[in-house]
Amino acid sequence: MTEEHSSPIKTPTQLVIVVLLAFAVPIALAVMLSQLVTSGAKGMHDNDNLVLARIQPVGTVVLAEASGPKGMATGEQVYSQVCKTCHETGLAGSPKVGDKAAWGKIVAQGEKLAFEHAIGGIRAMPARGGNPDLTDDEVKRAVAFMVGKVGTTWAAPVVAAAPAATAAPAAERTGQQVVAAACGKCHETGAGGAPKIGDRAAWIQRAKLGLNAVYQSALKGHAGMPARGGMAELSDPEVKRAVEFMMNSGAGTPVAAAAAAPVAAAPAPAAADGKKIYDASCVACHGAGVAGAPKFGDKAAWAPRIKTGMDALYTAVLKGKGVMPAKGGNPSLSDADVKAAVDYMVAAAK
Ligand code: HEC
Ligand code: HEC
Ligand code: HEC
Repeated sequence: MTEEHSSPIKTPTQLVIVVLLAFAVPIALAVMLSQLVTSGAKGMHDNDNLVLARIQPVGTVVLAEASGPKGMATGEQVYSQVCKTCHETGLAGSPKVGDKAAWGKIVAQGEKLAFEHAIGGIRAMPARGGNPDLTDDEVKRAVAFMVGKVGTTWAAPVVAAAPAATAAPAAERTGQQVVAAACGKCHETGAGGAPKIGDRAAWIQRAKLGLNAVYQSALKGHAGMPARGGMAELSDPEVKRAVEFMMNSGAGTPVAAAAAAPVAAAPAPAAADGKKIYDASCVACHGAGVAGAPKFGDKAAWAPRIKTGMDALYTAVLKGKGVMPAKGGNPSLSDADVKAAVDYMVAAAK
């Protein structure tokens, strides 16, 4: 690369992605071709390498409980909990979020087909992104969310089923609905220094000052944060529920409990639940052994790794290893969450 040519690769992350793709795409094609030619041929590649053809619905992913009632997750939530694993970086040949060329074709084919493919699966794209618990509307919302990232509006399914403010009487809005309507626009991205949804460290720090103080600043406003998030008609309980939702999104021990703050409305402290974390953040790759991930319950694949010791495994996941992003791509997980998930996976492979 010379400096006169402007390269589309501007950041180290992009470089890593390009390198990964350059490696993954040809191998993926090779694997698929080899299976076409000699149906069922095995052992051509290291058993666990890029078994893309094996990707299939996995059956155990659940959205974190904080996402509220079944079927109510917004497109963005479904995206970040399920679809992001592949679509954020273009893993396994998936159209990368924001990639106009890749999504242009999908937009051109129309929403009906795109919804069908997202719900039913197509080639390496597992049905419902591998999470059979998602409703059709949730999957559609996630598609609309991704399509929105290239400037196309497929509004119908989103508006019809999203937890819009009009969907429930004002007094009954859940925390999640309030966040979608009022708080998300700053707290999703951390605009102006807003603590991000699911950023446990940031929220724990604030919760340490006492939950009541935190509620009060949400109600009355605080620095760049407008009173009631700028939505004056919100009731006090609605604002509180929204705060709790943002604090506890991303699973694990409730933030209030972790901060040992006066427990107001926080549920009983729960130990980090390895299975839940696995189901939410790890299954997308480890369920089917995507991209060389040791497959869940596959003793042969795990044995040599377990031999390296639990500390080595924890470190690999905390820092990332090979294709696996740090914390499996979910930076909101605490170290304890990650370890619990590793323990759960190791126990299942012994
Ligand atoms: C395990 C990786 C993986 C996950 C998780 C995943 N996708 Fe995909 N997705 C793919 C791949 C690979 C393709 C490209 C398939 C092809 O065209 O061969 C794809 C393609 C698509 C397409 C384009 C389909 C078309 O008509 O060409 C849509 C829409 C889509 N995904 C939506 C979603 C949604 C919504 C989710 C989350 C609920 C999701 N994906 C989760 C891998 C994934
Ligand atoms: C216009 C952008 C914006 C919107 C909309 C918004 N916030 Fe904030 N919020 C911020 C910023 C900026 C901060 C950091 C302010 C600070 O330094 O404490 C913040 C901080 C907070 C805090 C921490 C306060 C503390 O004392 O530590 C809570 C709680 C909070 N917001 C709740 C909410 C809730 C609930 C909503 C929706 C009803 C909402 N916010 C909507 C920008 C916003
Ligand atoms: C994007 C796909 C992906 C996701 C998501 C993912 N992993 Fe991995 N994981 C991999 C791959 C690929 C490897 C093999 C890395 C290597 O050996 O180069 C791996 C390896 C591992 C290992 C073995 C590390 C070692 O040193 O041998 C552990 C333990 C592990 N993952 C745990 C997790 C946990 C826990 C999560 C969820 C918090 C998770 N993974 C999420 C792809 C993923």
